[in-house]
Amino acid sequence: MSEAVEKARARHAVLREVIEEHSRLYYVKAEPVISDLEFDALLRELEELEERFPALRTPDSPTQRVGGAPIEGFETVRHRVPMLSIDNTYNADELREFDARVRRGLEGDAPAYVVELKLDGVAMSLRYVEGVLDRAVTRGDGVQGDDVTQNVRTIRSVPLRLRGEAPPRLEVRGEVYMTVRELERLNRIREDQGEAPYRNPRNTTAGTLKLKDPRQVAQRRLAICLYDLVPDAGVPPMFHHQALERLQAFGFPVNPHYERCTSIDEVIYICHQWRTKRHDLDYEIDGMVVKVDSPEHRARLGVTAKSPRWVIAYKFPAEVARTRLKAIQVQVGKSGAITPVAEMEPVKLAGTVVRRASLYNFEDLEKRDIRVGDTVEVQKAGEIIPQVLRHVPELRDPASLPFEIPAVCPACGAEVHKDPDGAFLRCLNLACPAQVKERLEHFASRKAMDIEGLGPAVVDQLFSKGLVKDPVDLYELEAAQLAALERMGEKSAANLVAALEASKARPLDRLLFGLNIRHVGRSTAEALAAAFGTMEALMAATTGQLMEVPDVGEVVAESIHDFFATPANRGLVARLAAHGLRMDAARPEANGGARPLAGKTFVVTGKLQRGSRDDIHARIKALGGKATSSISRKTDYLVAGENAGSKLAKAEELGVTVLTEEAFFAMIEDLE
Ligand code: IVH
Repeated sequence: MSEAVEKARARHAVLREVIEEHSRLYYVKAEPVISDLEFDALLRELEELEERFPALRTPDSPTQRVGGAPIEGFETVRHRVPMLSIDNTYNADELREFDARVRRGLEGDAPAYVVELKLDGVAMSLRYVEGVLDRAVTRGDGVQGDDVTQNVRTIRSVPLRLRGEAPPRLEVRGEVYMTVRELERLNRIREDQGEAPYRNPRNTTAGTLKLKDPRQVAQRRLAICLYDLVPDAGVPPMFHHQALERLQAFGFPVNPHYERCTSIDEVIYICHQWRTKRHDLDYEIDGMVVKVDSPEHRARLGVTAKSPRWVIAYKFPAEVARTRLKAIQVQVGKSGAITPVAEMEPVKLAGTVVRRASLYNFEDLEKRDIRVGDTVEVQKAGEIIPQVLRHVPELRDPASLPFEIPAVCPACGAEVHKDPDGAFLRCLNLACPAQVKERLEHFASRKAMDIEGLGPAVVDQLFSKGLVKDPVDLYELEAAQLAALERMGEKSAANLVAALEASKARPLDRLLFGLNIRHVGRSTAEALAAAFGTMEALMAATTGQLMEVPDVGEVVAESIHDFFATPANRGLVARLAAHGLRMDAARPEANGGARPLAGKTFVVTGKLQRGSRDDIHARIKALGGKATSSISRKTDYLVAGENAGSKLAKAEELGVTVLTEEAFFAMIEDLE
């Protein structure tokens, strides 16, 4: 072997180990110690090395998470040890019956239990040969499943090689799932692209694992937690709590919320606690799993035809509420989409009071025959938007009539059109007052130009007085005109003028989002601003150049191109520029790229005086920190506004540092 090859091999081994360790710290432990930039630099060095010495590019290299070409189909493979299902219980009594059965089976010996969260995802079995990930198979019918190795490799927290000394063969099992935050991120992109949102994380996870293109899977950030170590040569049966520790030692993510109990009362207490605590998690659980800890006890208890006698699931009651549908409102969106919205008698559901819920579209409404006056069942899907599940036929008023689908736009009377793909109705009148007002409200909204004081009531008055019809008109308003509006007064008028002035400094992504370009939502706007830097460069881009931006496909690129090719839109942008609006992107990182908060995790809660939660999150991220929504031992700081509530109590319980809003700003303003 030449000296160069030898050196490359040695460097490759060091780099790979360092990258694997940082990946684990980032994705498994959520405790990164280096910045993303530093990590990317290491990965790039590894890639360059493999480019020069292709023999180093083995399948377990960190550069090889996402394979090349799409796959044809999934091979069906048999599980060496079947993946059994587990029995369900729904209340404390049934848990006590389980405990009694276990005690009888153990002839009076006292069992210890491990209680875990029941993650609501897709069960998966992973096989490692000589420490290297070899195969990932879905549960399927328990006897055989689909080989989805190429897709599972893209999950960042799945180790491609085990840490430490590996047995010749290892099989582990766990759950692949998606966080609620990730579902929301995907749905923002879908919304940008005019596609219907995914309804819940579990189905989205299942659908993602079935995609034939691993590159697409990699873009949806799935997660995994392991909960089972299958005994094998070199892996003797062990206590379950030890297996969970062993899994962690191998480098696998294990859900941290497990507890060992020595009585069924403790088990019941923990199960009940999680019925409410589940709402603090950023992923869905549908219950708890209770497992006998001792391998010897498990062996004595054995299995029935269907499931082991040493494990039971405790399922949470479904969070569905019944209420009366008072009205079906017909809404006209900023792009003319006409959609039904349910207005209901307020009802408590999963910790909040729900008054309005999504009915998707008229086709769906007609299919499910939902009528005003019906008693309906509502559910929170993925803890996000409440949805109307169904009407309760037994409780329907026999005199009720089907809802009449509008033939004309309720705002302007124009004839409605069906979208080519069928599901949505649309008003095509660009001058439709509902659309014009929606577009102005959108322009002024918090996530776009953030013009405080320019809400629906003010927009409505300005529009009906003929003072505004497009964003440029807003910047031509005078304080006296505003002060003359109802419920306004001089002080509020002056504030609004100041807010309009301040909005001129918003960076390019906010302006782009505010302009209401079809298929360009927040995330696409951010990606465009980051890629082009200035409005001028973006306006000059060809569709080909636009398609190089992440998440921008042909349809989106054409929409952007058409928007800027339209003279009226070019005129609008020129007039906005003439009013002094900023036309370039925000600097990518505060403080010249330094990341003083790298590795620090923040949770922001309560009512804040000095900025919205989104703004604070953005500032934390700009300084390299991480902002999450639920508190755990890994949280470094809780920023607590007024009425911080349960998160504050939890932070105190866990010993997380609590910052008042002032203390937080004092801290970051020093760093920015
Ligand atoms: S143990 C023989 N533990 O729930 C025991 N299952 O029917 C095997 N699940 O499809 C399962 N979280 O995918 C176990 N902490 C956990 C779990 C869990 C979720 C899923 C599993 C299985 C279903 C049980």
